[in-house]
Amino acid sequence: MIEQSFIQELLERIDIVDVVTRHFQLRKAGANYTACCPFHNEKTPSFTVNSSKQFYHCFGCGRHGNAINFLMEHSGLSFIEAVESLSAHAGLQIPVQSTVYASVSNAGKVATANPSVEEKTELSSPSVDLYERMEQAARFYRQQLKQSEEAITYLKTRGVLGQTALQFGIGYAPPGWQNLSGVFADYPFDDPDHPLVHAGLVVAHDGKRNHDRFRHRIVFPIFDRKKKIIGFGGRALGAGEPKYLNSPETSLFIKGRELYNLVHASPAIRKSGRVVVVEGYMDVVMLAQYGIENVVATLGTATTATHIQKLLRHTDEVIFCFDGDEAGSKAAWRALETSLPQLKDGKDIKFLFLPDREDPDSYIRKYGRMAFEELLEKSLPLSVFFCNGLSTRVNIGTSEGRARLIQLAGPLLAQINAPIFGFMLMKRVSELAGVDQNQLVTFLKTGKKDRPSVRRSEVSRPLSVTPYRRLIQILLHSPDYANRIDMNLLLVSGDQSEEKALLIALVDFLGAAVRASEEELNLVTILSYFDQTSHHDLLENIIRDVYVKDESWNIDAEFTGGIERLREVHRRSRIAELHSRSLASLTLEEKNELRQLMLS
Ligand code: UTP
Ligand code: MN
Repeated sequence: MIEQSFIQELLERIDIVDVVTRHFQLRKAGANYTACCPFHNEKTPSFTVNSSKQFYHCFGCGRHGNAINFLMEHSGLSFIEAVESLSAHAGLQIPVQSTVYASVSNAGKVATANPSVEEKTELSSPSVDLYERMEQAARFYRQQLKQSEEAITYLKTRGVLGQTALQFGIGYAPPGWQNLSGVFADYPFDDPDHPLVHAGLVVAHDGKRNHDRFRHRIVFPIFDRKKKIIGFGGRALGAGEPKYLNSPETSLFIKGRELYNLVHASPAIRKSGRVVVVEGYMDVVMLAQYGIENVVATLGTATTATHIQKLLRHTDEVIFCFDGDEAGSKAAWRALETSLPQLKDGKDIKFLFLPDREDPDSYIRKYGRMAFEELLEKSLPLSVFFCNGLSTRVNIGTSEGRARLIQLAGPLLAQINAPIFGFMLMKRVSELAGVDQNQLVTFLKTGKKDRPSVRRSEVSRPLSVTPYRRLIQILLHSPDYANRIDMNLLLVSGDQSEEKALLIALVDFLGAAVRASEEELNLVTILSYFDQTSHHDLLENIIRDVYVKDESWNIDAEFTGGIERLREVHRRSRIAELHSRSLASLTLEEKNELRQLMLS
């Protein structure tokens, strides 16, 4: 359901060399890049990436394709997932589209040899083998935990119940360099290009013998959405360094996409309508032990746009939970910045700050479940955190500080694609900065600070809203609806109100923009387009009602109702028009039309 033109744009924006390099190293060889092929076993490189033509080709096994095909084949992603992953990296927003015509087979510029890459990956991909090996390793680690008094004691001192360890599949990797050789008969003592190395379980060393990655660590298996193990997190038992050692990025495990515990938390997320995002494995485990199960963790990385998209697809409310210290509030602000473009009206993103020196694990052990739930209820809505964050960065008491506030807010506000929320936030910022909302819009549009407020139209709000005005409100909220408005309903004669003229202009502009999907449509872009037109004042006036809508606004019903009313207006004015002429002057067609109109 992704538009072909967007796929083209995406492929033009990204560089396949970067995409491949995120998964393994490439060596420059003339105009191309080469590596040992990830799709078949080989010792001399025959896998090439052509940067100018943006495709990969393996002279050994014949696989080839573009960046999308690469992710599908190499990481086992579906077409949509591959596009999502690339878009997130490129900072592009996938346009929402109403018509369904994109298909996997016409997905890329370079045709795939086999259109059903997805099915093929399922059947014969080397990943199947990797999954199986992860499972075998996890089994081994679980057995080892049962046999290690030291590991059991460690978990006990941290308050982890046996049942909890079982529930999370927690295991123990014993000390020793090649324990996994007892599990895998083909343990690669020297081979740097072995599935166990690709799986991240074995570390390959130049010149030295290979060895197990996880040694003398508690291991937390990480599951993907199919409940397959794709990696491990390993906690040192004592004060070992590093404290946590995680699986590297592998073809199975892409940290920017995965969230610890998402698949197991899913039912609880659905039930509670919200998800809590914490920083550590132990936080997830202990919250669950205390009965709070709708919890996931990022995996030693900052929260990515992909993470947020994933979570917002699952639920309407995301609560980020951060430590109360300096590092925590920095991480929270980063999460806020990443969240802004992902916000949607009707979705809530909130921030919970723990007291200094506490994390969710320590907090719930000290104060219990109820106390943590109370904190959850007190978490700050994104808008509040946004304004607090900005106000603490400037001195709001001075004009300079307030000007700086606008400067800081501008680029952030511009990233918001949720119209209602964006406007509410703009209103709050204008209040904080002590400027009129129209003025703020003007500042943000021009990036200049010396333009005085030009106009402030105080048109009073009409008591009953015309269908034109209603449809304009809907379009400002969801520009996509423009494509569903039949221009014929608008272009007949009849009343010539300003609202009607604006609606026509808006449908025109949005229809073209949505089709071209060239620009991100939000209130700021719409306003700036209409800035120099005669519609400007009315538009701003209407925008002021839009944010009054609450989130239970049933936009689809309102839209259908608006169109119905439009049809009715159209019908009456057409009847009036035809009636105003003498019957004799009407053509047969017009007479039929009149009859139809009178009957409907
Ligand atoms: P913390 O150090 O806050 O983890 O790191 P924690 O869960 O509170 O640790 P303990 O076990 O209770 O002492 C939070 C997360 O950051 C990642 C891990 O995912 C960890 O759970 N991390 C941390 C690493 O990847 N490596 C490290 O060395 C430290
Ligand atoms: Mn901790």
